[in-house]
Amino acid sequence: MTLLRRIAQRLRRPQGVPWRSAGLLTESLTADEAVRSTGWVFDNKIGDVSLASFTNSGEDEVRRYLNVFGFPEHSTSELVMVEIGSGIGRMTAGFSKRFRTVYAADIDAAFLERCRETVFHHGEPKALRTVHMPDGRTLDIESGSVDLAFSYITLQHCNSNDAHSLVTEAVRVTKVGGLIALNFRTWTPLDAALVPLGGLVRVLWRTPKIAKYMARVRVLTRLGWQANRLSPDDVLATLGLDLVGSRLRDVTIIHSPRRRVSVSADNVQRRAVRRIHPSHWWLLARLA
Ligand SMILES: C[S@@+](CC[C@H](N)C(=O)[O-])C[C@H]1O[C@@H](n2cnc3c(N)ncnc32)[C@H](O)[C@@H]1O
Repeated sequence: MTLLRRIAQRLRRPQGVPWRSAGLLTESLTADEAVRSTGWVFDNKIGDVSLASFTNSGEDEVRRYLNVFGFPEHSTSELVMVEIGSGIGRMTAGFSKRFRTVYAADIDAAFLERCRETVFHHGEPKALRTVHMPDGRTLDIESGSVDLAFSYITLQHCNSNDAHSLVTEAVRVTKVGGLIALNFRTWTPLDAALVPLGGLVRVLWRTPKIAKYMARVRVLTRLGWQANRLSPDDVLATLGLDLVGSRLRDVTIIHSPRRRVSVSADNVQRRAVRRIHPSHWWLLARLA
């Protein structure tokens, strides 16, 4: 890619830049080396981590969340799912052992390469399809073709327009009777500092040479990610109750018991579930 095109891309989608820089870093590493040197890129851990321990943490979460979403064990072997923002496959490996087909979708192509490697070592490679999303907002997947559209710790890391577009895409690709399970992050008092600081850091990220250095610094990368905070009302408004939203049934907001979440719509249920990050919430809904 020419320098000019690269700069134009950075100016258009600055929130994707920290991810692409991290992706570039993983291009010359194995998935295990990537986790050992930049584990924090994906789950905030450094030091004593390996690809195996990394995918174990994903396996635990896959088991737990499928249970929270109401899938009995062994009930998904004929189902198809998409994981939006799969990264290098921390959870994809666990999904690939349980679903017939898993579309791992990500903005960064190098992460998807590492994801294939992760699934090869720790999952079921036959189930895996990778879907590159260069625009960070559309999924190259047929409408109505998946049983579960899932996204975890991703929709907070793109700008809010892209997050809204990805929510609409999740609804589009899900079959009638299928489920969407999308994770978001809501505002906390700390965000008053974190979000503007994130914006500032992303300005620095536009300079390719500095970006290369920044991608190795944990605190800068983590700040650079802080792209948006969305409340359930923001997301439900995107789904427009009389437009796409009319296709949604059993809409439930899942949140931590440690944080109250307000929702204006009457027909939305709320469910507190232990061990959910207090700043996170999930939109769970079935396609009618
Ligand atoms: C914190 S990682 C989470 C990875 C995985 N979901 C997990 O829990 O291990 C966020 C991932 O989202 C991807 N991402 C960020 N913005 C995106 C966008 N607009 N479209 C698709 N993927 C995106 C990043 O490249 C990264 O791999």
